[in-house]
Amino acid sequence: MTVPDGLDLVGATARWTAAARALERERPDALLDDPWAAALAGEEGMAWLAGQAPGATLPMVLRARFFDDWLGEAMRGERAPRQAVLLGCGLDTRAWRLRWPEGVAVFEVDRAAILERKASLLEAAGARPACRRVAVAADLTADWGAALLGAGLDPTAPAAWLAEGLLFYLPDPALRAVFAAATRLSAPGSRLGFDIPSRAVLTSPWTRPWLDMQAAAGAPWLGAMDDPVAELAVLGWRAAVAQPGESGPGRERWTLPVPPAGARELPHSWYVTAVRAA
Ligand SMILES: C[S@@+](CC[C@H](N)C(=O)[O-])C[C@H]1O[C@@H](n2cnc3c(N)ncnc32)[C@H](O)[C@@H]1O
Repeated sequence: MTVPDGLDLVGATARWTAAARALERERPDALLDDPWAAALAGEEGMAWLAGQAPGATLPMVLRARFFDDWLGEAMRGERAPRQAVLLGCGLDTRAWRLRWPEGVAVFEVDRAAILERKASLLEAAGARPACRRVAVAADLTADWGAALLGAGLDPTAPAAWLAEGLLFYLPDPALRAVFAAATRLSAPGSRLGFDIPSRAVLTSPWTRPWLDMQAAAGAPWLGAMDDPVAELAVLGWRAAVAQPGESGPGRERWTLPVPPAGARELPHSWYVTAVRAA
């Protein structure tokens, strides 16, 4: 099923995160500065935002800032990757708004309708990519690796992979397949960043209203991981986890307790960062 302007129902959630970035931009202490977010969110995104409780978008903002900082760090230095892959990039404008080192290629992978909508809106706004941006239209539950290779990803050179706000929409087999494919295409020294809920998020009464809202919008949360460090180790990645409110910019705006990482029965939002071992 599609919604106006050809986005599918999960794709339409990209307008929500764009709306969250637009709202953040209005704060004097903004953690993000995405000048195109409001235009990309459009009326539908801003209408969704108007229906949310105050603070509901903070997790999206903290996550975006965490991965902005991580990506900046991952791409810095002489031996850092010179290619980045943004899986499920949606209406995110990192390829335009971040400062990329000279010569970096950024592959944006999402469905064609989203990539086209973003490119045409940004072009109309006079925005120019700050890197060599390559759009790769693909279904991440199918065989997307070939499309990425066809678009020029070099699997013999390290890459920085980011999957933000994506993996909870994928059922378990598709989730595993995304990691398997990214691993196959990752030379040693590659980096991987993603966020994912723990399984308790999918069942906890505390998260139920948010999950019900997502499901009612046709974008149910399905994917989860309890121990990303162990699961990634099996694939040859050295991983670490962080949680919102734990540290870093915006920490003081987080008012909920940060659950101990080992408490499986409690819901966790994992920010995972990893390096592909040699
Ligand atoms: C919540 S949005 C997040 C977008 C962006 N990463 C951000 O943080 O603003 C989820 C994105 O995942 C994409 N997505 C979900 N399932 C997908 C699939 N099977 N194939 C390609 N893209 C998918 C959607 O199209 C959408 O752009």
